[in-house]
Amino acid sequence: EQVYVGVDLGGTAIKVGLCDAQGKLLQTYEGPTGTEHGADVVLENIAQYVRKIVSESPYTWDQVAGIGAGIAGFMNIPEGFIKLSPNLGWRNVPVKKILEEKLGKTVKIDNDANVAALGEAWSGAGAGIPNVVCYTLGTGVGGGIIVHSSIYQGFNGMAGELGHMTVVPDLEAIECGCGKKGCLETVSSATGIIRMAKEATERGEHTSLALVQNITAKDVFDAAKTGDEVALRIINRAALYLGKSMATISVVLNPQRFIVGGGVSKAGDILFDAIRKYYREFAQETAQEGVDIVPAVLGNDAGVVGAAGLNLFSKTV
Ligand code: BGC
Ligand code: NA
Ligand code: ZN
Repeated sequence: EQVYVGVDLGGTAIKVGLCDAQGKLLQTYEGPTGTEHGADVVLENIAQYVRKIVSESPYTWDQVAGIGAGIAGFMNIPEGFIKLSPNLGWRNVPVKKILEEKLGKTVKIDNDANVAALGEAWSGAGAGIPNVVCYTLGTGVGGGIIVHSSIYQGFNGMAGELGHMTVVPDLEAIECGCGKKGCLETVSSATGIIRMAKEATERGEHTSLALVQNITAKDVFDAAKTGDEVALRIINRAALYLGKSMATISVVLNPQRFIVGGGVSKAGDILFDAIRKYYREFAQETAQEGVDIVPAVLGNDAGVVGAAGLNLFSKTV
């Protein structure tokens, strides 16, 4: 019997999962990323967690048929490099080579949101649907495009960087972590939502958020659920640009389903109803028939499942 290891490298935690050949998650292990210690330490941590999960499982190292890793940031996948990761603070790190040297096995790498999309497509909200587009709304806004059940990587791996679509009009655009202006991530990430909430309280707007210390995205959603107008406006803005971006994607890729995951998606109906409303408003009707916008179902596991799946669906589109 063969097993597959998936690694999800996030800003605060590294999650490792062991999957069988059907995508069933058998075991997980999570440890700190150690971002503050730099790339060398982080990559060594990954190698240690991978060895640990296998040694604590009923499987031997020889039964590991493949290792895959999803990493947040702009990748050059054919070269095995992470080119720029605003959230990890990395530039030009040859991740694939370093991990392969440490582990003595081939390691497939891809973007964190691409692998989460693959996980959802394989055994989550996109199971059985060949063409889906997935958004991950967290610290950043990630994206993944699944075409014919495989990740669409584009020329060098930048396809699916949905958080950096330029959607905010010039006059309202602010600088993104990537250095450009007007990205979707500036309004629809947890970071963007928190920023808008702080700006509103600093302007002295009438909102229950003024009483909250260290506002989180969840605080904004909770306030919105009680009818707080400022919170509702912020969520509406996050949803407006998500819905508009989906309308644009629908005439480029025509996916059958949009899947929205990540911490911010836990806001539930209040967010999804607004996204769907804007999609209906802006998308062509022909690109709406039979198309839906649904929450992700694998939650935090999508990344490790999809990363393990990189070895089963090696074909990229
Ligand atoms: C990065 C993506 C990543 C996303 C979610 C964005 O800022 O550009 O590569 O997928 O955050 O982690
Ligand atoms: Na992506
Ligand atoms: Zn950007």
